[in-house]
Amino acid sequence: MLDPKLTPRRIVESLDKYVIGQDDAKKIVAVAVYAHFRKIAQSTQDGVPITKSNVLMIGPSGTGKTLMCETLARILGVPFVTAEATSLAQTRYVNDEIEAILQRLVEKAGGDVDKAQHGIVFIDEIDKLKAGKEPRAVSGESVQHALLKIMEGSQVKLPGAQYVDTTHILFICGGAFVGLDDIMSQTHGFGFISTDNADNKRILDRLNSRVKPTDLFVFGLIPEFTGRLPIIARFGDLSREMLVRILTEPRDSIYSQFQQIFRHEGVELTVERKAFEQIAEIAMEYKTGARSLRGIFEELISPILYAVPDDPALRKVGIASLFADPAFVRAEDAVARR
Ligand SMILES: Nc1ncnc2c1ncn2[C@@H]1O[C@H](COP(=O)(O)OP(=O)(O)O)[C@@H](O)[C@H]1O
Ligand SMILES: [Mg+2]
Repeated sequence: MLDPKLTPRRIVESLDKYVIGQDDAKKIVAVAVYAHFRKIAQSTQDGVPITKSNVLMIGPSGTGKTLMCETLARILGVPFVTAEATSLAQTRYVNDEIEAILQRLVEKAGGDVDKAQHGIVFIDEIDKLKAGKEPRAVSGESVQHALLKIMEGSQVKLPGAQYVDTTHILFICGGAFVGLDDIMSQTHGFGFISTDNADNKRILDRLNSRVKPTDLFVFGLIPEFTGRLPIIARFGDLSREMLVRILTEPRDSIYSQFQQIFRHEGVELTVERKAFEQIAEIAMEYKTGARSLRGIFEELISPILYAVPDDPALRKVGIASLFADPAFVRAEDAVARR
């Protein structure tokens, strides 16, 4: 079912074309996904039920969690849907809401239930499901229980009398988990293991930077739930340099998309590095990861794009800085210069 050539390394290489940075998370996720599909293949062969290892992605907003899941599903060729844990907690009928998520997955699979049963479901904002917090329509804790059931694998009845078996669906949960580092700094410390060389020190540092299930429990996830998310991938903040790369490097980068739009008008768009650095700088101020990049870029481009269709002689637009007028080259200029 999974293309045997898709090794974890190949998966990471494919992710690299779309997701900038987050190298540790990419590796962890690639191995998890590889193991997941291997286990399914094995259990189909020998009939032994699989113990699923779902994935938890922890990291600030706008750092590529959703993008990585989306890209992964595309690489694997499996259907993919996202859902928000908060909207599950706001409804009175969690199970209806869960049905709706699986219904969407079946739709994504073009109505093919079997295909949907091997898809990926991303549940975002899982960190908002803290147990025992303010009263809502449904408590965070009961949503955790409802999710637990489908993550473990169950038969869910859809409106059209169809059943979806969630046993082989890969569930990826995501959240920012603000405050987790404070919890970790209080509970961690494998200092009692004596270290006498640099290698041991490095191993200890790694142990200490790992999120433990107990940290998630202190944060407010119930133990049964954290137990279902043994694989944790941490996403880091994006640096200015990474933001510049996000604007320009991915296959479908914002820059290449706009170059395409200009090309359709017969115009070559060139934006210099300096301008991208300025956009990245502004985006850093907004503290929403890469999320604000498109808006800032569009604000810069839209006055130009407004005029382009009425200017048939225009051939080139060059942007060197956000604080300088763009340079325009028109057909008659080119002729005149000859
Ligand atoms: N590491 C990254 N590489 C490339 N693009 C990114 C990255 N992180 C975020 N983006 C871009 O920013 C936007 C928001 O990213 P998203 O994956 O939804 O963030 P998250 O789910 O972590 O909040 C997306 O449009 C995505 O293209
Ligand atoms: Mg997201």
